[in-house]
Amino acid sequence: MNLRPRINRWTPARRDLNFNSSIQSSLVQPHFVVAGEGVDEPIASMPGIHRQSPDVLLQTIAADMKLGIHSHMLFPVVESHEKDPIASIASSKELPLLQAIRDLKSQFGGSIVVMTDVCLCTATDHGHCGVIHNEEINNDLSVVELCKIALAHAEAGADYVSASDMMDGRVLAIRAAFEDAGFVDTGILSYSVKYASSFYGPFRDAAHSMPSFGDRSSHQMDIRSGYGEAILEATSDEAEGADIIMIKPAMTYLDVVRNVADVVSRPVAVYNVSGEYSMIMASTDDDESRGKMVREVFHSFKRAGADIIVSYHARDAMSRNWL
Ligand code: PBG
Repeated sequence: MNLRPRINRWTPARRDLNFNSSIQSSLVQPHFVVAGEGVDEPIASMPGIHRQSPDVLLQTIAADMKLGIHSHMLFPVVESHEKDPIASIASSKELPLLQAIRDLKSQFGGSIVVMTDVCLCTATDHGHCGVIHNEEINNDLSVVELCKIALAHAEAGADYVSASDMMDGRVLAIRAAFEDAGFVDTGILSYSVKYASSFYGPFRDAAHSMPSFGDRSSHQMDIRSGYGEAILEATSDEAEGADIIMIKPAMTYLDVVRNVADVVSRPVAVYNVSGEYSMIMASTDDDESRGKMVREVFHSFKRAGADIIVSYHARDAMSRNWL
């Protein structure tokens, strides 16, 4: 079975994220998870965003939940000596991210939506999103590793695994792996329409995932590509069993968001990426002008057709009453 529409309505928090049209309930706060205890490390390129160990993360998210942010996206960050060519650590039982998922779900149950990044780039020693074979990123070998990572996150209790790699056919493979393992309520958020953008720089610094050679243009979409390819990627992911369709980046692709939102029947998410965040942070220094800008940007996402907004501004927007 590829399609399980019940997944998006399984818990109160999932229903609120997917079907409540307010900006507040659309927000998803990203987090970077590292090993250890008491770790709370600011990221220089992204003011206000930290790398945190699971114990600190739990406190941060508990405070976010009180502010009304119920959806959270977790990215694993690993030490360079733990990396290898196939990102083995990303699916290992010892990954601190898995502990964070278990702790969050046992504390907040159906009132939180936990999304987890499924990609190889934070855990490969070469920094690419796939397995390299004969000097190329090999699609099908990469999908095998992505399924292992997705299964580890599902077993720990993630609400949605977020496939951010852009390999062909990975949504179908992850859905099949979930069916085989009996994970009938774990969703797949697919980064369906993800461009090879120059707005990901600060994230790669935060997640230590800069490719050591080459770039991501053989799998992420060409920035010059039109609506046809965006719609192809989105509709084929839907048919493969994606529960949420993401477009990324957000601000420079609002026209694509509108065109995709008009043809898909699943909730549409946008990722207001690290370079977009840093641009607003760098161009404003007072709360009022920053807040007005963020509010305007969030409304543009909604107007374009986004149901879900992943943004590093989420916490400030809620705590400072920007909306
Ligand atoms: C992993 C991934 C990336 C982002 C989200 N997931 C980086 C990339 O593709 O290089 C970027 C997020 C951001 O810039 O905020 N593949």
